[in-house]
Amino acid sequence: MKIIIINGPNLNLLGKREPEVYGKESFEDYFNTLKTKYSTIELSYYQSNVEGKLIDKIQEAGFSYDGIILNSAAYTHTSIAIGDVVKAISTPVIEVHISNTFSRETFRHQSYISPNAKGVIVGFGLKSYELALQSFLLN
Ligand code: DQA
Repeated sequence: MKIIIINGPNLNLLGKREPEVYGKESFEDYFNTLKTKYSTIELSYYQSNVEGKLIDKIQEAGFSYDGIILNSAAYTHTSIAIGDVVKAISTPVIEVHISNTFSRETFRHQSYISPNAKGVIVGFGLKSYELALQSFLLN
């Protein structure tokens, strides 16, 4: 099974960025733990701060991978283009967020991804990614 985690802007700063909201662990450390725990899955990771690069990567993976775990970060709330690419591809996408976006500012309650995602996992810290991964394993 081939799964990719795609992270959007500022998630490269995990561990340093607002640790009270996003925790103290870097994504690289967390990703290595996930890879070890789920060693039978072909798991890869991509991060970009650039909207078009995220779209390129989603297109690239979107017709051959078994699943995409997508945290498009702030673009979730603004990007019609990322919403469109999630709709365009055949690979199922699970939208994840580290924080509970619904308990935060109202602009974070809107998502252009959710209508076309297979499911949404929100607010479990970095565990949100593992829960998304497990949901692919259930199928
Ligand atoms: C986030 C929530 C977004 O509102 C925010 O812009 C992020 C991270 C999360 O994982 O909690 O950058 O996607």
